Amino acid sequence: MVLKGRLKLIYDMIPACDILADIGTDHALLPAYALLHRRCRKAIACDVKTGPLERAMRTVKKYMLEDRMELRLGSGLEPISEHESDVIILAGMGGILITRLIQESINKAEAANCLILQPMTNQELVRPFLWERGFEIKDERLTHEGDKLYQVILAYYTGKPRTKWEKINEIIGEKLIKNEDPLLKDWLKNHIKKQRRIVLGLKKAEANADRSQLSCEEKLLSELTDLLHSLGG
Ligand SMILES: C[S@@+](CC[C@H](N)C(=O)[O-])C[C@H]1O[C@@H](n2cnc3c(N)ncnc32)[C@H](O)[C@@H]1O
Repeated sequence: MVLKGRLKLIYDMIPACDILADIGTDHALLPAYALLHRRCRKAIACDVKTGPLERAMRTVKKYMLEDRMELRLGSGLEPISEHESDVIILAGMGGILITRLIQESINKAEAANCLILQPMTNQELVRPFLWERGFEIKDERLTHEGDKLYQVILAYYTGKPRTKWEKINEIIGEKLIKNEDPLLKDWLKNHIKKQRRIVLGLKKAEANADRSQLSCEEKLLSELTDLLHSLGG
């Protein structure tokens, strides 16, 4: 089996572990790859729908992983018990769903050694959500598939909520800057485009526009642009 792009980056960020839980597993390619490469001893692949679990079962059979991968039906972290898995992955879902599923089983998320999150949308919600609940972001990286960029966040629970951060770091993670991620400039360019559209939209709706929101969005746009320039972009 060959993993590329998004799934390969998620795999690369999994620390060696005992029991890996993949929430919203669908085809279960990620836990299968992790087992085949001995990144974990056992995997629990969970999904809320039976169709994806049937696909997961085909993967289990194809790679003869019956004794090392368990498939469980249920929403979010419900199918796993507290302290059961040391690494929990939520990938390929929107940021709203990912944060909701963690919140619904926050004790299980806190009890894991780490969470690996790969939000497809609303990614800017994920960092503040983690900080407010006492999770620290240990690593984050970018990858691409074609011209689409993806980010993966690795977080662990410290029990110490963070109370202060800059708005820009909700969108552009500090670790991406610190590690000089090779795709950071492209990631920034995408967000600058998005931010320009937000500012333009607010300006067009000038009559009804909330002045303080407009100045906030303009400030964010100029910070994103400055950051890109500081990186030589
Ligand atoms: C786009 S697939 C992502 C599959 C895989 N994680 C990946 O990154 O390639 C999203 C999967 O999440 C599942 N899902 C959606 N809501 C869920 C929930 N509340 N709990 C568990 N799984 C869920 C869907 O059934 C689907 O199989």
